[in-house]
Amino acid sequence: MPGRPDESDQDGCTDGVRLGVMTTESADRAFAGNDMSAARWFAEQPAWWEDHYAGAVDQAVEFLSGDGISLAGSRVLDLGCGDGIISLGLLRRGGAAEVTGIDLVDVDLPFLQRVATAHGEPALREDERLRFRRSEPDMVPLPDESVDIVTAWSVFEHVSEPAKLLADVKRVLRPGGVLFIQIWPMFNSEHGSHLWPWFDVPFQHHVLDDAQMREHLRGRIGDAQLAEAMYDLYKSCNGATVDDLQAALVDAGLYLAKVELQSNAFHVPPELQRVPISKLGISGVKLLAVRQ
Ligand SMILES: C[S@@+](CC[C@H](N)C(=O)[O-])C[C@H]1O[C@@H](n2cnc3c(N)ncnc32)[C@H](O)[C@@H]1O
Repeated sequence: MPGRPDESDQDGCTDGVRLGVMTTESADRAFAGNDMSAARWFAEQPAWWEDHYAGAVDQAVEFLSGDGISLAGSRVLDLGCGDGIISLGLLRRGGAAEVTGIDLVDVDLPFLQRVATAHGEPALREDERLRFRRSEPDMVPLPDESVDIVTAWSVFEHVSEPAKLLADVKRVLRPGGVLFIQIWPMFNSEHGSHLWPWFDVPFQHHVLDDAQMREHLRGRIGDAQLAEAMYDLYKSCNGATVDDLQAALVDAGLYLAKVELQSNAFHVPPELQRVPISKLGISGVKLLAVRQ
């Protein structure tokens, strides 16, 4: 199956943030390390390791280095670490001094070890300055001012209350510490449902209601459990726009220092003629925020 549709470098029509409420059960179906989770399905696609261990880390390094910030020797928090591949990359490829990966679901360490070994990486060792912690939605389980750099790759479109979590990110950052956020795809953009492998036509999440989305997934995905996991992945999206993210960052007391928007040519469906282009057309964002 394909990876992301039109970008080799990446992972409802609302006003404001659509607060998705993930139960533990639905988070497990969408994100946990089991064979029928949506996250595992994506992680087993051919380009996943390269896109995350190398691609995501290199993009973070490049974005930060433009402002004279280096991962090398830094204490890094990988927020929403998922399968932990990026966390490992931040440590070994990015040269961080230590990396803590946190997520609402447990990292599947045997899976991480297996894919790392398959890609020629040395074994994960307990002394390797790579730690994983399970976290709560609005909290970072680390001491005050204990982190130099926070990275969050493809996470903040799933966070139920971004401003609350960001306030805790600010707490754990040392003064002068930075937060790097990447999001792709933005919810309102053509592939923002996160379900592009299962839809031949873009923007269908603006056109179909939840019941129709679910029905479509059941029809396209043979396995009912995987179809439900993909639906939960869709429902985990908070609908935030880049403006919502900006407001959440500033409300949390962080200084928004740098932004890069991602866009591409797209066709506007008849049903979406009046939806702002700025919503439909911003497919991704990278940004840098500073704890002053
Ligand atoms: C699309 S996955 C991305 C995982 C990983 N960063 C990657 O790119 O492979 C989003 C992750 O964010 C996590 N997440 C969502 N809300 C969170 C929160 N409030 N705190 C920590 N992690 C969260 C989810 O559990 C999920 O693993």
